[in-house]
Amino acid sequence: MKNILCVSHLDKSSISNLLDRAWAFKHLSKLPDYGNAKVASLFYENSTRTKVSFELAAKQLNMKHITVDLTSSSEHKGEALLDTLKILHAMGIQYFIFRHKQENLIQTLSNELKTASFINAGDGMHAHPTQTLLDLLTIKENKQQFDGLKVVISGDIKHSRVANSLIAGLSIMGVSDICLSTPDFFLPVKLDNTVLEPQLDKALEGADVVVSLRVQKERIRGNVDNELDSYRKAYQLTDTLLSKAKQDAIVMHPGPMNRGIEITSAVADGPQSVIFQQVSNGVFVRMAVLEYVLNHNGYNCTY
Ligand code: CP
Repeated sequence: MKNILCVSHLDKSSISNLLDRAWAFKHLSKLPDYGNAKVASLFYENSTRTKVSFELAAKQLNMKHITVDLTSSSEHKGEALLDTLKILHAMGIQYFIFRHKQENLIQTLSNELKTASFINAGDGMHAHPTQTLLDLLTIKENKQQFDGLKVVISGDIKHSRVANSLIAGLSIMGVSDICLSTPDFFLPVKLDNTVLEPQLDKALEGADVVVSLRVQKERIRGNVDNELDSYRKAYQLTDTLLSKAKQDAIVMHPGPMNRGIEITSAVADGPQSVIFQQVSNGVFVRMAVLEYVLNHNGYNCTY
């Protein structure tokens, strides 16, 4: 069965088609009807944007969608996660939207349950493919093309599945100028397809797109208060720092934001911010992703 586990499993043409379809969903008045498709969301990590946008996306396409309440599921009585999925599958659920803190668990589960389809809604620090697709759609809407863009990513890149997937997605779409700007303690081990400029004011020179990332306290071991204070002083995205970027640069953040840490409210709510556009694009991108998975599994809509 077709899955969406990682951006790097998609090629440029598949991504372009998904973005075009998401854009169409944003503007279509009559939507396709996938009335017999049964979809379940299982979020083992907290979520607002991804969880709700998948729910809305499935509803818009008239799918039968349930969000499994994991606080009251039988896993608390000792049932194995794979058995939970098999039980849902036995009830007719063919498509699973899955978030978990364990990296690559979704890959393992999809190998174990080959007759179901899996969409990765975020696995630990590894990947968040649908976030990347909505980020790419937002960039395309504002910049029309990917060629020649300079993208600066700042924040806790080390612990960020969003950054991993975004760097992969931008590279597939032909963006060659991806600049990371963050202190050593937030730098990933691998820096493929990127350049490093630790001074944010220098990094921002000539930037078309500025991506601010959350400091993910829950993934950092030990006390980070001292680092946070020095981080905020040097790297918080302020109006003054943003003025180093191009005048028409856009500011993105996948959310949830820590206002006053990685970004000021003035920037987050300012004229260059497209943060809430990212959120609304999330629904249309997830409609496109659900349809892509269904169509690639031989499922056609009725209109
Ligand atoms: N960007 C993102 O994944 O947000 P949620 O954790 O709220 O889904």
